[in-house]
Amino acid sequence: MSKTLISLILICLYIPISIAQTRSVIELDKGWKFQKGENSQAYQKDFNDAKWQDITVPHDWAIYGPFDKEIDKQTVAIEQNGEKVATEKTGRTGALPYVGTAWYRNEFTLPQYKLGQKVLIAFEGAMSEPKVFLNGKKVGEWAYGYSYFYFDITDDFIANQTNVLAVELSNLGSSSRWYPGAGLYRKVQLIVKNEQSIHHWGTTITTPVISKEMAKVNIKTKVTGKNLNVVTYILNAHKDTVATNKTDAIFGNEFEQNIAVVHPKLWSPERPYLYTAISQLYEGKTLKDEIETRFGIREIKYEANKGFSLNGKVRKFKGVCLHHDLGPLGTAVNKSALRRQLQILKDMGVDAIRSSHNMPSIEQLELCDEMGLMFLAESFDEWAKPKVENGYNRFFEAYAEKDVVNLIHATRNHPSIIMWSAGNEVPDQWGSEGVKRAKWLQDIFHREDPTRPVTVGMDQVQSVMENGFGALLDIPGLNYRLPLYEEAYEKFPQGFILGSETASTVSSRGIYKFPVVQAKMKQYDDFQSSSYDLEACSWSNIPDLDFELQDDKPWVIGEFVWTGFDYLGEPTPYDDQWPSRSSYFGICDLAGIPKDRYYLYRSRWNTEDETLHILPHWNWKGREGEITPVFVYTNYDSAELFVNGKSMGIQKKNKTTPQNRYRLMWMDVTYEPGTLKVVAFDKNGNPVAEKEIHTAEKPYKIVLDADRKTLKSNGKDLAFITVSVVDKNGIPCPTATNQLNFKVKGNGFYKAAANGDATSLELFHLPTMKLFSGKLVVIVSSKEEAGTIKLSVRGKGLKSGTIELKSTD
Ligand code: GAL
Repeated sequence: MSKTLISLILICLYIPISIAQTRSVIELDKGWKFQKGENSQAYQKDFNDAKWQDITVPHDWAIYGPFDKEIDKQTVAIEQNGEKVATEKTGRTGALPYVGTAWYRNEFTLPQYKLGQKVLIAFEGAMSEPKVFLNGKKVGEWAYGYSYFYFDITDDFIANQTNVLAVELSNLGSSSRWYPGAGLYRKVQLIVKNEQSIHHWGTTITTPVISKEMAKVNIKTKVTGKNLNVVTYILNAHKDTVATNKTDAIFGNEFEQNIAVVHPKLWSPERPYLYTAISQLYEGKTLKDEIETRFGIREIKYEANKGFSLNGKVRKFKGVCLHHDLGPLGTAVNKSALRRQLQILKDMGVDAIRSSHNMPSIEQLELCDEMGLMFLAESFDEWAKPKVENGYNRFFEAYAEKDVVNLIHATRNHPSIIMWSAGNEVPDQWGSEGVKRAKWLQDIFHREDPTRPVTVGMDQVQSVMENGFGALLDIPGLNYRLPLYEEAYEKFPQGFILGSETASTVSSRGIYKFPVVQAKMKQYDDFQSSSYDLEACSWSNIPDLDFELQDDKPWVIGEFVWTGFDYLGEPTPYDDQWPSRSSYFGICDLAGIPKDRYYLYRSRWNTEDETLHILPHWNWKGREGEITPVFVYTNYDSAELFVNGKSMGIQKKNKTTPQNRYRLMWMDVTYEPGTLKVVAFDKNGNPVAEKEIHTAEKPYKIVLDADRKTLKSNGKDLAFITVSVVDKNGIPCPTATNQLNFKVKGNGFYKAAANGDATSLELFHLPTMKLFSGKLVVIVSSKEEAGTIKLSVRGKGLKSGTIELKSTD
């Protein structure tokens, strides 16, 4: 392209048009009334809801508990886990009251509405089976709680008057394998736009040709109206216009533009560069609609014997699976909670997320685009054959295609998404009907998005090798089953294997069990699992075994570890024990505090920063003189360990066992209180880093550490404050279990707390909690007025702690 042309393009600067606003998007977050229970009248316009609870949306009605063993008790044999005999599963869905019906009502007027315009209502998820009523009339319904959906309510909306929206939601028991949450847990929006306008989710942006000099940006825009033309501006990350294009050539109801972006800056986890397309729709010279779509320019390829490449560079996914709950906040989506999760994971070196086993929140995708995390967007945990009695199998026939279409239309412009998943461990892996379903679903994905491949997380590997299920997928994803990787690679035609779900190691933060041995489905009296990271389930394994495959087999294209964070429900290996109500699989606990395992992954995945982490803690009153092994997770190859100055020798990573390859382990250390010190060596044997931990005396003082000190005064921005106790010398007390009380003053409020103990029945939203392994996290929210926020934490016999935060406009 000539220089003059380029400068010409650059001169056509986009000037935002503020006078003629053509579209309004109104978030319905405030003014909601809520009540649990069935109600045959609540859909009516003049129903009196004055006594109902005032809430804001997003909202999760079940997170306030109380925990109850009897809730959704499922007496089943979990086939996927190889169980043959049914046992009583308590806490499988978190032991929280998500089952039942509830109503939400909201009154709104739309002063911006003009006669002839259109009004849509859009939900980004509603748990579950939503029925939506406007002014007493049903305007639509959906089934799957994780789907995005919208209805055109123009005909039932009344201009210049109060409109009454009512939403009924109902959750059946035995409908989930984890805590699904309950309610309007994601955004609800009203959209007012002209009749002549761009369709909801009507823009598709792809980048089919990319070179150093130029990228071809293809933009398809679906519209309603006659005599239309569309003008598109492409802005770089600084909001400068870098390209523009106008067309009136419409094919059916769709415009298609190919726009050159010169010297494109490519999107990657290391540099998540984002462009914005502004699409303006004109009727003649009159602006009728305008929307903004963020996108990235990046190239993904999956090739036999080469694997996955991003922008021409082969790389393996360093991924984690995440369920959608935010621990103590439940499932109500919150962007600052999601951002914190992703920051913690990025620091560990993670570059990819799998939304197991359902559609992600739009907020999570926006953050992954911005922060640089690739995304495997999943859809279903079940197809036509059930895993749980009242699961998605009830809706598959009627809804699967609509759900997939909405998933793709709502999210396809996010550069972070690099793969779709049509399902997780679906029982349809058995039998020929399931093979047909796999092809049918994959074809829908391809029809709607030809640019991304499709996987299914498969656990019935023998079956899918024989019946053709695995061979037909774009990406064969294996869940666990490490001994079958080699055979699957040989038998499948794709030429690579994805570890779509790996590890499922179990541990409890700060808890260590002796003797230190590898174990499967190990149970202890306190319902905790050992943080020596050697315990897994009958079907799963310790992290090191996946590391070996990833390192030794070029055809393995990466892994998604189960899971980045603990989640509510599925308390394996204690799923038949009470009280135990949340998972042990997390690399971080339910409060988001890293377990030891975090540093094992970090030592290998974070290639920029040093990792040097010692375990266990060194407070073992009563174990004096007993063997107490010490592990070090580090990116260095070797290190020397000292107990109270006495050398325990040098350990070097080696290939005698998988653990020896990735961890430094001193198995024969005898416990004596004092100081554990580790000195790490570089490749030439020079000491380059050291770390110490000390035996603590009794708890003396509370210490607070906030992840951020300045919040936005928007009523929903959060600070996560890690609370711990130290002895009088400032040494952390790793076994402290003190009961603490929280008070927030000023322009913020106490939101929730969590300590990471899977057996705790303390409620998250009450301002008191016990420390677990010396720590817990308090979550403080901003209010809508700017100012100072003060959190103070007290505990009997302890010097209290306070911290001051700020919130600004
Ligand atoms: C997998 C399953 C996950 C979770 C995990 C626990 O088989 O896909 O949802 O249940 O096991 O190890």
